[in-house]
Amino acid sequence: MSSLAAVRRLAPEGNQRRVLVATMGGLHQGHLELVRLAREAADGAKVEDRMWKIEDRTSNIQHRRSSAERGNGEVAVSIFVNPLQFEPGADYERYPRPEKADEDLCRAAGVDLLFRPAPDEMYRADCSVTVEEHMLSQTLCGRSRPGHFRGVCTVVAKLFHLLEPDAAVFGEKDFQQLAIIRRMVRDLDFPIEIIAVPTVREPDGVACSSRNQYLSGEERRQAPMLRSALLQAAERVRDGETSAEKLIGEVQQQISTAPAARIDYVEVVETESLQRRDTVGGGSLLAVAVFFGKTRLIDNIVLA
Ligand code: PAF
Repeated sequence: MSSLAAVRRLAPEGNQRRVLVATMGGLHQGHLELVRLAREAADGAKVEDRMWKIEDRTSNIQHRRSSAERGNGEVAVSIFVNPLQFEPGADYERYPRPEKADEDLCRAAGVDLLFRPAPDEMYRADCSVTVEEHMLSQTLCGRSRPGHFRGVCTVVAKLFHLLEPDAAVFGEKDFQQLAIIRRMVRDLDFPIEIIAVPTVREPDGVACSSRNQYLSGEERRQAPMLRSALLQAAERVRDGETSAEKLIGEVQQQISTAPAARIDYVEVVETESLQRRDTVGGGSLLAVAVFFGKTRLIDNIVLA
């Protein structure tokens, strides 16, 4: 049974509220927090006997979850390393794919439906339609990763159609992605609630990311610099600084003290439109993208 065919047969039933956590796998604490909040958002609907369903290309495993494990709604996790959102020459091939570990984590976290399509199931060889956002995607990561958000919007729109969730959770670490998905949902009338989840961090402040594992020991030791620079800038704003230019300069200077760091961007933007701001005021976001060696890390903080 193809996983697409399977998933179509598993459309949410009756009153069940389905909440989607879309991922590319390589699951970590950040994803597990998304799953936890998805569970909270899913519960509240009518309690029903439900099946624990794991779907993938090769197997179709079904286990009944015990009543103690059972909640009211349904949490669906998709794992799909989406080729469309990787620029040519980026890390698509080497992107982590720990399939068994991911499946175990999903089971342990009480996920109800795991959807893992194969690339050729998601994209036909002659597919010629994509979804593109034209404003928010022109700033920040959109400048250095042309085509990336077209890939994200296209796959998320497909996942929304295939899995028909009532809500979907996305992390604030990928703030621009979250803003673009909200815009897509608004402009294309998807009847889906988008729930933002605060960034989950390692004990030293580094934002959880599947790409952290690419960092060498030395790069990983220097990576907490991003968070300290952002926190310091937020402190300066609390002390009365409002000039975006000054804050950006200070953050750049601080990050440059990490020898392995190469700045892609440091910007202050408005939280909804993601357009540049000269002055920090209500709804300002300080966002950074920095290479440590070949690994590009992003982080952000809402300033005011
Ligand atoms: O944030 C991610 O992991 C991906 O961009 C997403 C939303 C799963 C789309 O492939």
